[in-house]
Amino acid sequence: MNRSSNNIISEIYNRITKVSGNPPTHLHEPKLDKIDKKYLNNCIDSGFISSNGKFIDLFEKKISSYTNSKYSIATVNGTSALHIALRTLNVEKDDEVLLPSFNFIAAANAILYCNAIPHFIDIDEKNLFVDEIKLEKYLSKICKVKKNKTYNKYTNRIIKAAIPMYTFGHAGNVPKVIKVLKKFKIKIIEDAAEALGTFYKKKHAGTFGDVGIISLNGNKIISTGGGGIILTNKKKIADKAKHISKTSKLKKKWKFEFDELGYNYRMPNINAALGCAQLKKLRYILKKKRKIFKEYKDLFKDLPNVKILSENKFSKSNYWLQTLILENFTKKFKENLLDYSNKKKVFLRPAWCLLHEVKYLKKYPKMNLSNSTKMFNKVISLPSSQY
Ligand SMILES: Cc1ncc(COP(=O)(O)O)c(C=O)c1O
Repeated sequence: MNRSSNNIISEIYNRITKVSGNPPTHLHEPKLDKIDKKYLNNCIDSGFISSNGKFIDLFEKKISSYTNSKYSIATVNGTSALHIALRTLNVEKDDEVLLPSFNFIAAANAILYCNAIPHFIDIDEKNLFVDEIKLEKYLSKICKVKKNKTYNKYTNRIIKAAIPMYTFGHAGNVPKVIKVLKKFKIKIIEDAAEALGTFYKKKHAGTFGDVGIISLNGNKIISTGGGGIILTNKKKIADKAKHISKTSKLKKKWKFEFDELGYNYRMPNINAALGCAQLKKLRYILKKKRKIFKEYKDLFKDLPNVKILSENKFSKSNYWLQTLILENFTKKFKENLLDYSNKKKVFLRPAWCLLHEVKYLKKYPKMNLSNSTKMFNKVISLPSSQY
């Protein structure tokens, strides 16, 4: 590293710590207070800490009301919600499922749990959501639609579904992506794991397609410890999601009967109790997130070639994880900044890794992923807890 890049790295580091305070600083920590304790104590006192109890239904109702989704089904985590969502759309062996390569690993794993085939698509560099223009061109080239089913001309497999993802809570051109997928008769699961509190023109993330999911892991905008939500407006999907996430057990007086392969994925009552408490604070947290974004944005406005990712024109981001974009720097520079900060216990992170480069995912189909590669070298996630 030369002297001037060393200086820029320490300058970036110093500006980050002006927002995040003294190290050690993790990327995103949960914040719990007396409201959470009150709800948890209430749940413990009730004796119902597991699969039964009043908080599960209550939490689902509150989520439905906030997101304006007709149905909400709570699960043990976001990954299980993705798995269930795929099952509700009948994704099965050898079906192809589209997903961004610029992504967390969960969606790819959930596709493989169904013995289906992940097929990687590219993102828009402006918002890290699916690039609708590239997608339409690509699908026009590879798809043939026969009897309401879409086939990949090159592999002869059905392209059953797609999982667009709201990166770090940001939306892209959601209606256009949905329109393209519908044109090709591809079912839609929105991975809004990071996007509780994100809206596109007043419509909540995860409510545009057939199914959406949210994660409530400890690092998310609110948390139930571990948790996930399935959102849908379709009764048939909601019924199936609830049924198979509760082991597919039929309602009988005392007999054990199961009608299809099911999963023990239902969110426990104690996690839902925490969820009810956390939801009370969501509006306040969203305001705080916006404030953190503005602080970072102001601090970096005069540093050339360094910027903070902003929401796009029609969307309201939850600003879950603040994102630094390094323009015109080398990959080595980004790695040196990560090394420098991590050594000082400010735990900056890259945007995961590109999924098409993961050892067990390399063999699967993909489109040209130039934007994903470019953005992977530019993006760094910043400490974004409520300070
Ligand atoms: C984009 C994305 N999808 C899915 C998941 C999976 O959620 P969970 O960790 O709750 O299983 C996560 C996060 O953790 C995520 O960031």
